[in-house]
Amino acid sequence: MEGSISTLRYRAEEILEDMTLDEKIGMIHGNELFKTKGVPRLGIPPLVMSDGPCGVRAEFHPREWVSVGNTDDYVTYIPCNSAIAATWDRNLAYSAGSVLGEEARGRGKDVMLAPGVNLKRTPLCGRNFEYFSEDPYLTSELASEYVKGVQSWDVAACLKHFAINHQETARLGVDADIDDDVLEDLYLQVYKDIIDAANPYSIMSAYNRIHGEFCSQSKYLLNDVLRKRWNYQGFVVSDWGAVNDTKLAAEAAIDCEMSVTYDFDEYKMANPLKKMIEDGEIDEALIDEKVIRILILMLRLNMIGDDRMNRKNASYNTFAARAKVLDIARSSVVLLKNEDNILPIIRPAIKEKKILVVGENANRIHSNSGGSAEIKALYEISPLMGLKSRIGGSTQIDYLQGYCSKLDAGKIQEGTNWQELSLENGGGSAAGNGEADKELRELRGKLREEVLNACNEYEYIIFVGGLNHDIDSEGVDRRNIELPYEQNELLEALLEKRPDTIVALIGGGCVDMSKWSSKCKALLWMYYNGMEGGNALAEVIVGDINPSGRLPETFYYSEKDCSGISVGDFGDEKMVHYRERFHIGYRHTCKENIKVQFPFGYGLSYSDFEIKEAKYNRGMQEVKVTLCNNSDFDAAEVLQVYRLPDEMADYIQLVGFEKIYLKANGAIETQISIKDKFGTGRYAVGKHVLELIPVE
Ligand code: BGC
Repeated sequence: MEGSISTLRYRAEEILEDMTLDEKIGMIHGNELFKTKGVPRLGIPPLVMSDGPCGVRAEFHPREWVSVGNTDDYVTYIPCNSAIAATWDRNLAYSAGSVLGEEARGRGKDVMLAPGVNLKRTPLCGRNFEYFSEDPYLTSELASEYVKGVQSWDVAACLKHFAINHQETARLGVDADIDDDVLEDLYLQVYKDIIDAANPYSIMSAYNRIHGEFCSQSKYLLNDVLRKRWNYQGFVVSDWGAVNDTKLAAEAAIDCEMSVTYDFDEYKMANPLKKMIEDGEIDEALIDEKVIRILILMLRLNMIGDDRMNRKNASYNTFAARAKVLDIARSSVVLLKNEDNILPIIRPAIKEKKILVVGENANRIHSNSGGSAEIKALYEISPLMGLKSRIGGSTQIDYLQGYCSKLDAGKIQEGTNWQELSLENGGGSAAGNGEADKELRELRGKLREEVLNACNEYEYIIFVGGLNHDIDSEGVDRRNIELPYEQNELLEALLEKRPDTIVALIGGGCVDMSKWSSKCKALLWMYYNGMEGGNALAEVIVGDINPSGRLPETFYYSEKDCSGISVGDFGDEKMVHYRERFHIGYRHTCKENIKVQFPFGYGLSYSDFEIKEAKYNRGMQEVKVTLCNNSDFDAAEVLQVYRLPDEMADYIQLVGFEKIYLKANGAIETQISIKDKFGTGRYAVGKHVLELIPVE
């Protein structure tokens, strides 16, 4: 049980008294790629970190970006944060965090570098799959539960990347032109809300700059806002290579410098810092504060002295963890269209029939790439595997690739680890969207023809496409939201011949489907959905699971419809302008009446729901609703409460939500709490941001 902060501080100060300068310096910078130095003489262990958020990352050699390659670091692959957000379920977010915390503890880690909680300001950011949502309330509610889950295992969660790391392009130096109220009340507030609700023990400072200062050495961000105003007592670690100046970092309230290079003693907060202290240029008391905060973290995690006997023990790769990630995956699949009730294709109907599965993503795994979120998954069920193993031998299932991302798609790339070079190449540039040379175009044409020639021989066609981590990845951004790899050409032609094709797309953020979506009757969306993702998708397709995922972001027709891009200089090497102020995501599209493909909060079910008797209880700050499931299936609906625009805030915003599970033909009276920072306003409740009933 964690002591009060003053007791912890007192104990930390006592330990510090016996430490030499060298020992202190050893604790505040990386001595290996994911580890600091301990002080064995005093029983202080090194601090061991690892990446999330999709699982605990594989082991690297301590001083080289080369994976160890043993068989003991396979882990449970957890749905990415966007997938967790698509569940809109706080319990499942806790469950995801708890799997990560348990496995981190099982693998001997102290700090999990997750969750990413930046808002999806634009759909183009390559790391959007690591983030939850464009909405601050949905993000902070789910991330808080996730943090509690991680920390229930004596492992620290680490909110990242503090702050406003909204693009990968030029991420190592890009500056933000942002009004203080927008920065603080929108973007920083998400961190504050999570800190208040879940007390995350650590935070990672971002690479980028704010008002000219690098976040990792920003006195404004770290000293004034985080420490003074918010009284945050946790551990602040730099992103890997984000510290640029010894003196500024010493003076800023950052506690530990980590990086990607192997010259550990030459890190800014290693020998150069020691020398400046010895030369009297930096006060040692500043370093003491950093060490105290690291010791507080270690005390919180029961890492020191006799406390170690109380530290939780844990396992990884348990059946229970796999069951939990399957639950999350099931709840996260979003049904976008289902004309003529094409879905589900129930088992009796497909017996002795033929199904053609098409698309690279049906047969591709995603866990092993995407940047630092990559993991070595114990297994990953692809959609093709999920379908085959669900449907069984009485139905013939054939597969055709249909399109390809590149000529050698699927081959493992050998060579230098990208992270080793991540400080040299500017840390990110605009990614291609699968531009093709002649050879690749010819191959795609051939793959397309195969499908078009074969498709009439089958009773059912299931297409699984979308994006992958060549595109959704750390260090790169998308240039637009086009569906890549000539999938549009394939889908247009295929849907012409077979309008009954079931289309499922996988990705980290919205893609433009407008070229073919009006012809398509059954459409599913899934974020990178963990090791059981293929099973979850198959279960939805065959009707074992009634889909209940809802979009945690706006699906625009074009990236130009997004406020963050249409009025910003996205991609400019030096400055990103936050001219849209508070009007991000659906706030902007709703205000400006911009048509979208699918709105924020959207998702269908195989059931029909009815919302009745919605009433606002001002005293309790809640909306009371009766929800009816008018169908013969068990189902879940997400009730969403929005604050309507007024003179306090001229945009609509989510202020409450609840995922309600209902038995077949059941009804339930439920309350949804409202969190309205403007005091009170007028509210509306409904199934998504464009389908709302005002409540009185
Ligand atoms: C990423 C961080 C990650 C760190 C360690 C950096 O490249 O931005 O999110 O935790 O590397 O791998």
